[in-house]
Amino acid sequence: MADIVIERLSKTYSGGKAPAVNDLSLTIPDRQFMVLLGPSGCGKTTLLRMVAGLEYPDAGRVMIGGRDVTDLPPRKRDIAMVFQSYAVFPHMTVFDNIGFGLKMKRRPAHEIKQRVEQAAGLLQLEPYLGRYSAQLSGGQRQRVAVARAIVMEPSVLLMDEPLSNLDALLRLQFRAELKKLVKEIQTTTVYVTHDQVEALSLGDRVAVMRAGNILQVDSPMTVYDFPATEFVGGFIGNPPMNFLRVAVRPDAGQTRVVIGDQELPAPAEVAAAGDDTVLLGIRAEYIQASSPNGAALNGLDAQALVVEPLGSHLLITAGVGDQQLKVVTRTDFEVQPGQRLHLQPEVDKIRWLRASDGTLLRA
Ligand SMILES: Nc1ncnc2c1ncn2[C@@H]1O[C@H](COP(=O)(O)OP(=O)(O)OP(=O)(O)O)[C@@H](O)[C@H]1O
Ligand SMILES: [Mg+2]
Repeated sequence: MADIVIERLSKTYSGGKAPAVNDLSLTIPDRQFMVLLGPSGCGKTTLLRMVAGLEYPDAGRVMIGGRDVTDLPPRKRDIAMVFQSYAVFPHMTVFDNIGFGLKMKRRPAHEIKQRVEQAAGLLQLEPYLGRYSAQLSGGQRQRVAVARAIVMEPSVLLMDEPLSNLDALLRLQFRAELKKLVKEIQTTTVYVTHDQVEALSLGDRVAVMRAGNILQVDSPMTVYDFPATEFVGGFIGNPPMNFLRVAVRPDAGQTRVVIGDQELPAPAEVAAAGDDTVLLGIRAEYIQASSPNGAALNGLDAQALVVEPLGSHLLITAGVGDQQLKVVTRTDFEVQPGQRLHLQPEVDKIRWLRASDGTLLRA
């Protein structure tokens, strides 16, 4: 049983103007795979290093498995870490690299052999156990770094962008292997990345960070479908979520939202908010595009501005009034830049956000 409870952690580096981590709390249940996701400089590594004990917080506490570890050094926290720069020892064999930590702990040779072979099996490294790690590819070396961490059977596994040194194809392969591995070892894991695809793919839950704070913690699909803020919707997904500023027209019977020269009935949360402008959020794949023939109900008149064939789909940048939307269609949809389009957002996929601060209006 090793849940992680992070309580009101803060850290400002000497010389730093803003806090790297700002009064941040997060609970990670036992065996959960938590991804910390956010742009460069938002404090992910700093937070992870405080959980590891490599950085001391200015304020707040870290509990692992019910034990306050805030004042304990890393080696007393029962954790293992995998860093971005996978420091495997080049002059040691793969076997010795993986077994290094166990040897330091003076485990008997037969136990080291058994545990190293098991970890090597999980990471498909058995054929390379006798090789020097200098003779491995980048992807293999990365697997050694992960094997070396899991062989310790830590209560908590901490990983900081472990895939970032791999090329695109290896990254894709190793991501799937890692996902399979974490299911097998069932260790509480905190995984740092700024790659939203990796976060969605791997996480049981994703914590989206910005400027030392957490904006949202949810399952990957919830973060994708119901972003708590405009920033989260824009950071996650490729293309990012579309946001249109639309006017709200209060009416005695039915409040309406006005988009260009179109009007739609406003949902209850928009009517209740009482603002005169709101943000309409909609993902590109939930907009149906068609040629404008005949009368269309509840849709948007738009103009195709840019048409990008991307192999599996077309990405259309469309103008709606003076605003723009990204729309995804099948590649056999015939459209040229300049052509008029009719766009139909799936109404139950529309999210409504406050225009003033970009936060989600809850239904
Ligand atoms: N040792 C340090 N001394 C001073 N400032 C630091 C130090 N380490 C990080 N910072 C600053 O703290 C903030 C958070 O840095 P951190 O490394 O935690 O970000 P990150 O989210 O891991 O970014 P990246 O995705 O680029 O790795 C940044 O503004 C950074 O410049
Ligand atoms: Mg970092």
